[in-house]
Amino acid sequence: MPLNTNIRPSSTTNLAFVSLIILLFSPRTTSQACKSSCGAIPVKYPFGTGPGCGDPRFQTRVTCNNQHLTFITHTGCYPITAIDYSNQIIFITDPTMSTCACTQPSKGFSLDWDAPFSFHDDTVFSLINCDASTSPVFKSDGRNDSLSPVCDSESGSRVCGLLNSCQAVSRLDIPVSTCCVYTPVDLGPSFEMDLQKLKCDSYSGLYGFSGHADNPDSWKYGIAIKYKFNFNNEYPELCANCEKTNGVCGYNGPYNSLICNCHSGINATSDCSFEATWNGSRRFLPFSNGAFWIYALAWILIWRMA
Ligand SMILES: *[C@@H]1O[C@H](CO)[C@@H](O)[C@H](O)[C@H]1NC(C)=O
Ligand SMILES: *[C@@H]1O[C@H](CO)[C@@H](O)[C@H](O)[C@H]1NC(C)=O
Repeated sequence: MPLNTNIRPSSTTNLAFVSLIILLFSPRTTSQACKSSCGAIPVKYPFGTGPGCGDPRFQTRVTCNNQHLTFITHTGCYPITAIDYSNQIIFITDPTMSTCACTQPSKGFSLDWDAPFSFHDDTVFSLINCDASTSPVFKSDGRNDSLSPVCDSESGSRVCGLLNSCQAVSRLDIPVSTCCVYTPVDLGPSFEMDLQKLKCDSYSGLYGFSGHADNPDSWKYGIAIKYKFNFNNEYPELCANCEKTNGVCGYNGPYNSLICNCHSGINATSDCSFEATWNGSRRFLPFSNGAFWIYALAWILIWRMA
């Protein structure tokens, strides 16, 4: 600490007092608890980079660890590849899913029934190498749709055929008839794809066919998931203002009230516009954050009290 010049011995009490101020305020004001990105992915409401950030309902479902943004369900942890904030879509990959380049066994994929997520309509699941005689995916012939899903026999068989033409899949040497495409839209909100129960070996998740419908090599492999902010799907106004002023939305207190975590680490109950006036000058100062102001205040106090 640079507190060693121009201070007379009589001011030790002042010095202690000032040190106390610095001690009390520095750790909390020197860094922003909630970050606005995780790795290369921008993180905005309702997601957060840690406890107290974003919306509490999303906190355990989307996490940031070592700069990796991860989507979590009871079936596993899945890397998030992108988030489309304007259309409210999360894109994830499943390391256990098969692609045109590589097939591998998988246990499946499921969303949590109590989580604010659903599948985007563009997501198509293709079950690979299902047991034609025992798999329930082939059993339902329309008489009991509520019991098991029916494979999409029209556009689905095209996807299956193309997928089967991939080198990795053709190497398995399995008939196209063991492949089943079904769109989760038909499966209700709590989508559960348990491949062991369905007697299938693996699956591919696909989205974004547009422009590449005939080339399975260029399909986007992954899962597109929709999310809702709340029941009415309204973006909280406080949060919109917070983000406009470079803050990050979070929550605090016994009622998980919305707070705006500002760049300096201060939690505002409205927005961070009070910081805007600092921005121009801060850039040229030795401290990149609010700590500068604490030190400045401390020195003013010393100067006046000494
Ligand atoms: C601001 O809020 C965040 C998130 O709730 C919390 O982690 C942090 O400790 C708070 N900072 C201060 C200075 O209260
Ligand atoms: C369809 O399956 C459900 C759930 O097992 C069952 O309750 C219902 O009776 C079945 N309906 C028919 C027509 O078989």
